Amino acid sequence: MANEGPALRERLEEIRRRGVAAFESAESQEALEAARIEFLGRGGLVSRAMSDLKALPAEEKPATGQAGNRVKKALEALLEVRSAAIAAAESGETDEVTDLTLPGRRTWQGGVHPVTRVIDEVCEIFREIGFTIATGPEIESDWHNFTSLNIPLDHPAADMHDTFYLDQGVLLRTHTSPVQARIMLEHDPPVRVLAPGLVFRRDPWDASHAPAFEQIEGLAVDEGIDFVEFRAAIDFFVHRFFGTGTRTRFRPSYFPFTEPSAEVDVTCFLCEGSGCSTCKGTGWVEIMGSGMVNPAVFEAVGYDSERFTGYAFGMGPARIALLRYRIPDIRLLYEGDAAFLEQFC
Ligand code: DAH
Repeated sequence: MANEGPALRERLEEIRRRGVAAFESAESQEALEAARIEFLGRGGLVSRAMSDLKALPAEEKPATGQAGNRVKKALEALLEVRSAAIAAAESGETDEVTDLTLPGRRTWQGGVHPVTRVIDEVCEIFREIGFTIATGPEIESDWHNFTSLNIPLDHPAADMHDTFYLDQGVLLRTHTSPVQARIMLEHDPPVRVLAPGLVFRRDPWDASHAPAFEQIEGLAVDEGIDFVEFRAAIDFFVHRFFGTGTRTRFRPSYFPFTEPSAEVDVTCFLCEGSGCSTCKGTGWVEIMGSGMVNPAVFEAVGYDSERFTGYAFGMGPARIALLRYRIPDIRLLYEGDAAFLEQFC
């Protein structure tokens, strides 16, 4: 019959499709061998189809014979590939081909967090003028946190430091200033220390507040320290940290533990004093609270307040990092988002 050739070729094509599916789904050498026998074995589907070739009219034989050979070769080749893949999988390797043209994976390189970088730089600069580094506990007594610093517990200044109480008289420190008292209780003057650390407030979590943030406390006590030395130390720091062209301004303020007290402003380091959104058009940005140590603090720690004088200051390195790196939201500094922090590596 004239269409016997095409019918047989279609049958061979069907055998090829089924054979490919059977070989590819075989997960073990046994399953693969069973498929081999079914399709390529002596009495298998391919050889039975090939033996039907004999019954075809002569003119149909060559094309159909060639089609049969192609199916046989294709299945034999696939059998070989699958057999190797199963052997590799069984020995723990994979059948993935290594693509040597793929770019290598970069090794992860850590970096210093922008706030830590500010703290390190500030410490380094003050170290040059004789300051050492100290730390104090984050869980603090209300005596150290308030009373020793001339803040009576019922004083409105204590309200601003509303905090988390862990127990009667034990709280999460609201500032690093209690380290001043700890240092002075342990060491006689002269004292020049910087105390960086975390502090806690009942503050909202928004673009400019975080309930836990860093501070750096500074304290210098000696005989004969006056406001001039205080200003000179701050100017030295400001010129080093922000650049020699930066000017400082002391604005009168109030802190119970300093008298007189001042907020220190520097000329805005983004617009250099001409006014921009960072300095809200004033040309100045505030960088710390400060002042001459109140004699009441010396008395609380047993220092002779007639003999010794000193200055103290407290700054927020996260705020300085926001200004310096033009970061619009303080939360970015604390969320640990690697994509954001990578910019500073
Ligand atoms: N402890 C103050 C605060 O957290 C900051 C401060 C102001 C510290 C003046 C000082 C200082 O040492 O002299 O708001």
